[in-house]
Amino acid sequence: MKFFIDTANLAQIQEANELGILDGVTTNPSLMAKEGIKGEAAVMNHYKTICEIVDGAISAEVVSTEFNEMVEEGKKLAAIHPNIVVKVPMIKDGVKALKWFTENGIRTNCTLVFSAGQAILAAKAGATFVSPFIGRIDDSSWDGVELISQIANIYGIQGFKTEILAASIRSPLHIVKCAEAGADVCTCPLDSILGLLKHPLTDIGLAKFVEDAKKFA
Ligand code: G3P
Repeated sequence: MKFFIDTANLAQIQEANELGILDGVTTNPSLMAKEGIKGEAAVMNHYKTICEIVDGAISAEVVSTEFNEMVEEGKKLAAIHPNIVVKVPMIKDGVKALKWFTENGIRTNCTLVFSAGQAILAAKAGATFVSPFIGRIDDSSWDGVELISQIANIYGIQGFKTEILAASIRSPLHIVKCAEAGADVCTCPLDSILGLLKHPLTDIGLAKFVEDAKKFA
């Protein structure tokens, strides 16, 4: 399973990258706004900087919701760097745009996916990645991880090549459950990635090893 970090914060991207296990970055308009990035030039420049930090798939989201505008915006984003993946919302014009990008050799990430039906449409349109938002599904008392299993099952039966990118991850347990359920990628906040490191027996065991090592130093 690939690991992406889900943030536009450069310090966090750098920290995750230094771990050596990072395969890419996802952002969205909310995450960009959180970093205070304003204006087209600043947005483009921010994506370029992210591409210079991480050698992997970097999702950059269109903000238009109309087909022609999405295509124009996506072309500009894709021109920033070969690693850019154009992120497109799961709406009718978005499906058309996914198909257009697929036919024109531009990789895509279909975002705001909340059902297996939407995931089938994204795969049919040739999306490179499909992003089910599992935390937001859990928020509405449905089971986000169950949706990952369902999509993995359908894609396996049908031979769809679209990669399942579990998004809206809220905890280390989400990451483990998504790995079990067949996600190809998890995009996670830095805290959830670092949370995977934690186990009290590791800390207790290491303290004892460090103490005992002094006996023969
Ligand atoms: O990858 C999508 C993600 O950024 C949404 O996460 O926590 O806002 O549901 P969240």
